[in-house]
Amino acid sequence: MKIAIMGFGVVGSGVGEIIKNNAESIAEKVSESVEIKYILDLRDFPDSEFKCFTKDFNDILNDDEVKLVVEVMGGTNPAYTFTKQLLSAKKHVVTSNKELVAKHGTELLEIAKANSVNYMFEASVGGGIPIIRPLINCLAGNEINNIKGILNGTTNYILTQMISCGKSFDEALKGAQENGYAEKDPTADVEGHDTCRKTAILASLAFGKEVDSEKIQTEGITKITLSDVALANKLGYSIKLIGLCEKAENGVYAEVCPMLIPKDNMLSGIDDVFNGIMVNGSFVGDVMFYGRGAGMLPTASAVVGDIIDIVRHKDKNVGIMWTKAEEGYLLDNAERKNSYFVRISSNDEISGEFIVKKIANDTEIGLITSEMTETKLKDMLKEKGVNALSIIKLVK
Ligand code: HSE
Repeated sequence: MKIAIMGFGVVGSGVGEIIKNNAESIAEKVSESVEIKYILDLRDFPDSEFKCFTKDFNDILNDDEVKLVVEVMGGTNPAYTFTKQLLSAKKHVVTSNKELVAKHGTELLEIAKANSVNYMFEASVGGGIPIIRPLINCLAGNEINNIKGILNGTTNYILTQMISCGKSFDEALKGAQENGYAEKDPTADVEGHDTCRKTAILASLAFGKEVDSEKIQTEGITKITLSDVALANKLGYSIKLIGLCEKAENGVYAEVCPMLIPKDNMLSGIDDVFNGIMVNGSFVGDVMFYGRGAGMLPTASAVVGDIIDIVRHKDKNVGIMWTKAEEGYLLDNAERKNSYFVRISSNDEISGEFIVKKIANDTEIGLITSEMTETKLKDMLKEKGVNALSIIKLVK
């Protein structure tokens, strides 16, 4: 099988390294050698061990020998146009590009199906963690009830470095960039957009209809203070950036925000670049997936897994699919009841039956509320004349 790689950045070079160094073992597994015929990148790599670089996409598109293309360019442009052309030319495409899958996955999966090839994206969610294939295959006998995930390695790394090593946000972010975890523009990590795209992909796969990432309510970690973390810790919780989706009677809920996780929930102990995804299926109950969510070789490992799967199924479309959703399918989170962590100044007097737990340090109070909608909580605090310094949801 002759393949091409589009984009020779962190993931692309990792894929090159695994395919080159592991060629014999891969060939044994699929009874066929996998050879890189082209690497597309606009930059020059004079010192690379690979000598098959091209700057012209048409070299790949027009070469009938190339049956599979790895798209690890990132972004939607020109990745979207290239992917459409490749699938239409009956070439399989494997990607780690969550932005593209979240935005155009429905259309690209349809084109792949129409051309009897595959569009695979195991590396787009959870880096090296197998999660797409388990959802499609191993858990397919279940109705998926909900998925809760720590889906961004960069933010989890930053939060862990801040909490455990006392590093500043900027120092921690620099570490994530140096390790190749962060997006080119780390705003997508820290503002939750990356988690949002991954949540959209998981929700679309799990529930079978497209969840539009642009409509998912999303909040990142930039407003989380060390004071939130310390008070939450005293109350018995960790704070994590969570992407969640849940099936309801008339549609699905999906949301991305920092959440308090009780210390006895497995998601609470997931630190550094690691991601954790908890899937609840109707028959299996909770299943937990854990591993490295970003970085060169973990992500490349998932890409190579897809390549191997395609070599095994190269003559057919394996049926990865979701359909367009009807208007109103994505439900309004404002209607959902939750418990909350509220941080207030110790100068504010607060009491009431809605307070389930309360703890104070020298200057501030952290409390946990009973379940209610966020609107009701805000109205209640207003009535009591209390100014909330933070309001953070508790995971259910
Ligand atoms: N920037 C992403 C992360 C890379 O930190 O998780 C993997 O998708």
